[in-house]
Amino acid sequence: MVDALTDLRERVRAWKRAGERVAFVPTMGNLHAGHFSLVRIAREHADRVVASVFVNPTQFGPNEDFARYPRTPAQDAAGLEQAGCDLLWMPGVDTMYPFGPQAAVQIRVPGITGVLEGAHRPGHFDGVATVVARLFLQVQPDVAVFGLKDYQQLAVIRYLAAELSFPVEIVAGPTRRDEDGLALSSRNQYLSPAERAVAPEIHRSLLDMRERVLAGASVAEAEAAAAARLRAAGFEVDYAALRRPDLREPGPADGRLVALVAARLGRTRLIDNLEFDRPTDAPKAG
Ligand code: PAF
Repeated sequence: MVDALTDLRERVRAWKRAGERVAFVPTMGNLHAGHFSLVRIAREHADRVVASVFVNPTQFGPNEDFARYPRTPAQDAAGLEQAGCDLLWMPGVDTMYPFGPQAAVQIRVPGITGVLEGAHRPGHFDGVATVVARLFLQVQPDVAVFGLKDYQQLAVIRYLAAELSFPVEIVAGPTRRDEDGLALSSRNQYLSPAERAVAPEIHRSLLDMRERVLAGASVAEAEAAAAARLRAAGFEVDYAALRRPDLREPGPADGRLVALVAARLGRTRLIDNLEFDRPTDAPKAG
């Protein structure tokens, strides 16, 4: 584990001098099988893997769970080593934000951050973009791996990397699920046993949206049915939406869709998504 920028840079520079390709997996810690699968994917793309653990204050809203976000550094370090990570980067807040989080130079990604998660968590993606840009500058990876579970975050990071010309290839890692379909998340541990039993409804509501659309329902009908299903199960629904992969509203010619849900069970907010294709009458390219 290193927590000083000079040590991180020295290690990465030595690998690059030796002609090695460096992959990076940024995390906020409290790691689970989903994170470790990203480390394994990173291994497939590079000779060396760096992972970071940093609970980023600037991506949490004032009423969100920053203070109680689970922090398990020793467990994370052991798990990362076992998963094949070569170096754990664990910067302190002073290293990440030398003049304090309030005085940080910020990165704001326009457009895509105004909907869905961005609309329900104002400022969240500014914090994510700001910290990911810093992490890229610190680690200087050739490739970085992000989970598909945070679908909109991945889209924001792809845009950030392309728009600022970061020389980093962005790779997506598939969502890992428990047997009952619940997507793995550090926040699942907030759920009471009764809430945990209901939580897989999120995944079922995504499958339901897909089934309805494939059976000919309109986007609006499928969205309304998913939201109703979740409410009936006890969720407070932020959104149950069908979008194009770029998160714009789909039209009849859009074959590739993504169903996205964000909903609360008690104090716990869960998100998940599912990509799928539907047949369209649109002429095929080429
Ligand atoms: O997905 C996460 O864990 C965080 O949003 C990230 C990308 C590590 C930035 O803090």
